[in-house]
Amino acid sequence: MILVTGGGGYIGSHLVKKLKEDGEKVIVFDNFERGHKWAVKGVEVVEGDLRNKEDIKKVFNNFDIEEVYHFAAYSLVGESMQDPMKYFKGNVCGTLNLIDVMTENNVRYIVFSSSAAVYGNPEKIPITEDQPKNPTNVYGQSKLMIENVLEWFSRLNKIRYVALRYFNAAGAYYDGSIGEAHDPETHLIPIVLQTALGKREKVYIYGNDYPTKDGTPVRDYIHVMDLIDAHIKAMQWMKSNNKSDVFNLGNGKGFTVLEVIETAKKVTMKDIKYEIAARRSGDPAVLVASCEKAKKVLGWTPKSPELEKIISDAWKWHKNFEQKETIF
Ligand code: UFG
Repeated sequence: MILVTGGGGYIGSHLVKKLKEDGEKVIVFDNFERGHKWAVKGVEVVEGDLRNKEDIKKVFNNFDIEEVYHFAAYSLVGESMQDPMKYFKGNVCGTLNLIDVMTENNVRYIVFSSSAAVYGNPEKIPITEDQPKNPTNVYGQSKLMIENVLEWFSRLNKIRYVALRYFNAAGAYYDGSIGEAHDPETHLIPIVLQTALGKREKVYIYGNDYPTKDGTPVRDYIHVMDLIDAHIKAMQWMKSNNKSDVFNLGNGKGFTVLEVIETAKKVTMKDIKYEIAARRSGDPAVLVASCEKAKKVLGWTPKSPELEKIISDAWKWHKNFEQKETIF
């Protein structure tokens, strides 16, 4: 069986749905603090918290787990600076318990959700995996600490891991059935689409004095289903080569905040008002991935690299979700 921690979250739930469609046996482990039960309807679920080793032990005792996709984590950069212990305990201690129980049960394979936040302010664009890792926030540091632990356990031949450093995940399941639903929402594309739906009056653009073509920050947006495809390929690669490694996942192309808003106007055919506000602390000007390594080693190619496709799939979901929201 395949264990997906954080399977009720945004990216985890998309993997769970895809694995189920592929006919795999999946078990979700989630405390549903940030994840959603409706996102994993019809799936075997164990409600528990990685910080309680007993909770995760039970899963390994009761099910024949062969491989693990590990998404469960706190993931808000701002919050991580306000409450660092939440991030170190939740993300790092939780993962230590998971690795501990995996090794006790001789389960060797783990795909781990890491982040572009491990790089901090990059020296060069596009960012390759070997660039210096200097996180500028606790969230990124917690992900880097986990990568380091995984690397040691791999060197000691106790596990094999793949750490996937996501750039800006966006979009929704191709059929619009599940999508991105954070509370509070801090991500650009959902905020822009909520504005298109009239749920927000305007988008606040956090700074237009960056050294970019229109002054707003540049990000590398990647379709969540392309991320999912990379996860499945990473697991296959790790198992068939018995190797561990780290890969960036992005499209290698950046868009400014204004370009995202303009594309969303085109997709939604709505006017989307915005106002320039102060910079958000800790935001780098440009984050664009080099994803050549994932392409070469994993044989992965993003199928939906166009920003318009990413936003229109997100839009399908948002229209659907905002209508049904009250019944969840
Ligand atoms: N932005 C706005 N207004 C908003 C929201 C965002 O102008 O209301 C801007 C941000 O300043 C940033 C861009 O839109 O320039 C994208 O912001 P997001 O919050 O959507 O994403 P981030 O790039 O800040 O963060 C993402 C992930 C993090 C991860 C990081 C890695 O959400 O978890 O990428 O670089 F750490």
